[in-house]
Amino acid sequence: MADSGFVHIFEPPSSANAPILLLLHGTGGNEQDLLSLAEVLAPDAGILSPRGKVLERGMPRFFRRLAEGVFDIEDLKFRTGELADFLIASAARYGFDAHRLIAVGFSNGANIAASLLLSEPEALAGAVLMRAMVPFVPRTLPVLDGLPVLILSGAADPLIAATDRDRLAKLFSDAGAAVTYQVVPAGHNLAPQDVAAAARWLAERP
Ligand code: MLT
Repeated sequence: MADSGFVHIFEPPSSANAPILLLLHGTGGNEQDLLSLAEVLAPDAGILSPRGKVLERGMPRFFRRLAEGVFDIEDLKFRTGELADFLIASAARYGFDAHRLIAVGFSNGANIAASLLLSEPEALAGAVLMRAMVPFVPRTLPVLDGLPVLILSGAADPLIAATDRDRLAKLFSDAGAAVTYQVVPAGHNLAPQDVAAAARWLAERP
């Protein structure tokens, strides 16, 4: 199913208070990638899972990059706005409360989720950022006002320096988010510790 140009999957939540997980895949992934993870993380949750619209040598992404870890900021901002519009359109189309959306993003998907939080702070009720970088530093910090953010970084991630992941956690703390920052014994790929930490965080969220 396509909407605002996003190929996507929507599944309604199976209980009244369950969140809607916005699943954002990594480079080369698609809307199917994180479905089984979501099933483990929060089986009652609804799912909104778009496929990134940018193609890099045939691999879907959520925004363009100039090199590994070097982002096309103009495209990032445009794509972030486009994704925010898609969330609002999807809430109206499927009849869910946009304030129940919690992003679960991996790598490139976590980076656009971080960008959403920084530039469209109303778009999400929270976020799980797995292997995220600082997408950009906003001129003015958004007011995140206790918004829950879980950052899961890999201790041996060859793509993200320890200073960069620390900077990300500080950026969100400075913006007032309720940050939980965990460095797991893993590289860029997800490990069982990520799944356990994300499931616990989702279950304990108010
Ligand atoms: C990736 O491979 O997806 C990068 O590490 C993150 C990004 O480019 O957004």
